[in-house]
Amino acid sequence: MSTDNAGIARILNIFTRSLSGYVLIAADQSGLIPFLAAHPEGLTIEELARERSFEPRLTALVLHVLGHLELVEAHGDRFRATEVAARHLDPSKPAYCGGWLNFLYAGREFSFGKLGEYLTAGSAPAPQSNYDENTDILRFMMSAWGPIGTAAADAFVRRTDLSGARRILDLGAGNGAFTIAALSAVPEATATAIDLPYQVEALQAHVDAAGLSDRVEVVAGDVLEGDLPSGYDTVFLNNVLHAWDPSRYAKALASCAAALRPGGTIHIREHMLDGFGPEHRVEPALTALGIVTTGGQGGATDVGDFRNLLHESGFGEVTVEPLPDQPDCSHLITGRRL
Ligand SMILES: C[S@@+](CC[C@H](N)C(=O)[O-])C[C@H]1O[C@@H](n2cnc3c(N)ncnc32)[C@H](O)[C@@H]1O
Repeated sequence: MSTDNAGIARILNIFTRSLSGYVLIAADQSGLIPFLAAHPEGLTIEELARERSFEPRLTALVLHVLGHLELVEAHGDRFRATEVAARHLDPSKPAYCGGWLNFLYAGREFSFGKLGEYLTAGSAPAPQSNYDENTDILRFMMSAWGPIGTAAADAFVRRTDLSGARRILDLGAGNGAFTIAALSAVPEATATAIDLPYQVEALQAHVDAAGLSDRVEVVAGDVLEGDLPSGYDTVFLNNVLHAWDPSRYAKALASCAAALRPGGTIHIREHMLDGFGPEHRVEPALTALGIVTTGGQGGATDVGDFRNLLHESGFGEVTVEPLPDQPDCSHLITGRRL
């Protein structure tokens, strides 16, 4: 009988690698990374354990795993936070993304932890527990989202020609990251930023903090209900669609088309399912599973189906660009209103 160590290792590694996430959360929640970052000369395991009152064996092992993850580096017997760790795992830094890790982690009990149960029970959680209506979860999500949205918006503005945009409509604007980045890049532009009522106070606060209050109109509204204002050059729909039932996409896209002047452009950054293999990403399906197991209405759509939907909704010149380097979204889709 032949044994298949490689196959066994592959299967086991899928799960054991995901356990690194727990180490990341422990590093974040214990304040380990900022403490290391505050000691550029590095700390020994004993110094770290003593000064933070950490359990010494766990400290050694956590540092070992963080070393594998390239979040700490060893110099002799001293450990330092890497630059990436210090930038993104220190809550006092603007690009801190531990908030988002904690948001995902908070869902482990009721979301992914119950996936098998929901699968075999033949039903996902009831909509009343859902995050479409639970403003506490939504607020937690959007405050955790802050730096990730900002980084995504900056990358989007760097790669996209917005020079012709004078009136921008940002739908599901969140913290206003895309509005703020776009208006910073195009000084002549103004924007209307729409989000659900629970989010508008935070949205307005971000717009005010960016010094853009006189160029941005913040509006409380549900993009899926009623008409949108019209006459825009550009519509943004960034990281929003996946929260909606795909059966509602057609109506939403038709509303976007109606909001644009002829020749105006829609930019959609979204999680799209587009096949398997190393050149494709698993995150869209995982994000969609997270939403469905949390009781959300949303999901993920297929690139090909989505392209057709845009054509049917009054858009031409549709381009679909994979975003392999973006943490939050898998594709940038652009269309021109016919
Ligand atoms: C993941 S956030 C993305 C925020 C922002 N576009 C970004 O990319 O940083 C999704 C946003 O869509 C908003 N949203 C979801 N459904 C909406 C609806 N029906 N009408 C308006 N906003 C909606 C949510 O409140 C949330 O702020």
